[in-house]
Amino acid sequence: MNKDRKTVFSGVQPSGNLTIGNYLGAIKNFSRFSEEYKTFYCVVDMHAITVRQVPAELRRRTYETLALYMACGLDEKKNTLFVQSHVPEHAELGWVLNCYTMFGELSRMTQFKDKSAKHAQNINAGLFTYPTLMAADILLYQTDLVPVGIDQKQHLELARDIAMRFNQVYSETFTVPEGYIPTDTMKIMSLAEPTAKMSKSDTNQNAVVYILDSKDDIMRKFKKAVTDSDAEVRYSEDKPGVSNLMTIYRAFTNKTFDEIEREFSGKGYGDFKAAVGEACADGLAPVRDEFARLIADKAHLESVMKAGADEAHYYAMKTMSKVKRKIGFVN
Ligand code: TYM
Repeated sequence: MNKDRKTVFSGVQPSGNLTIGNYLGAIKNFSRFSEEYKTFYCVVDMHAITVRQVPAELRRRTYETLALYMACGLDEKKNTLFVQSHVPEHAELGWVLNCYTMFGELSRMTQFKDKSAKHAQNINAGLFTYPTLMAADILLYQTDLVPVGIDQKQHLELARDIAMRFNQVYSETFTVPEGYIPTDTMKIMSLAEPTAKMSKSDTNQNAVVYILDSKDDIMRKFKKAVTDSDAEVRYSEDKPGVSNLMTIYRAFTNKTFDEIEREFSGKGYGDFKAAVGEACADGLAPVRDEFARLIADKAHLESVMKAGADEAHYYAMKTMSKVKRKIGFVN
């Protein structure tokens, strides 16, 4: 496809309060593409309903996720910020792609297996076809690059496979997207169980630091973070708790692991955890302030959503009409 700029697309589910995993693994990186790329950042509310949501909370979080995008540095004039359900082509292409995605492929998705185990009472078809809707999100905009954490890698690979399969059957239709997975922060771990991913749906509040947590809460959570018994600040696979804290500290201070090891050599974990808490709280303070300002102006958020949806819709329609023509739908 002829494009004057390459395209970036990413999305976040408004299914819970966003964590520093979402921030460091994804959202913080979004703004680096704003100048050079055509960027689409979407609040994926249709993905969120694959798990039961309280309607009022889903609505509130949709506004909040948009405000957080903006508070994390995404200027609505330089980025297309929108809500997935406002652009019906996502559902439309999602259906079409379902017919080019194999049952076996979807069955192999680890997120489906994990979520099925967690929500055994509600293993709905949407949970199963979640990755085809995600592929539709990405392919609708002829996306070149998708910034995400490592947990989305398998979904992204499926989106690539679907695009290549479709292109092979019907000739070049979709750009085949690449992932942009930041190696430094691609998987922030739980503070309570450092071998598991930090997740916004975790019920243990001490396991998760939210972007909008108060400084007191942040300090308390890091103080309680699980480490180990050898009292040495050192990055090592067999020290998952300490290594995760070092990863978080590095992300907020730009210090190297060597510098961090030297800084805390001979000091206990207490000093280290307090320093991580301080760095994290300081790093997030401007985001929190900006969020408070933005969330107070609902009308402005609605105008951003509306403009974003109009812009996204224009591009989505172009791809969709091409897809319909290729598969033989009557125009
Ligand atoms: P979601 O809402 O679970 O997470 C949003 C983004 O945050 C990343 N992330 C993490 N990164 C590092 N460490 C963690 N602990 C951590 N937890 C979450 C995720 O990788 C993601 O980038 N399926 C997606 C949403 C989506 C999407 C898309 C993304 C729908 N359509 C199209 C990209 C392109 C999801 O559930 O993200």
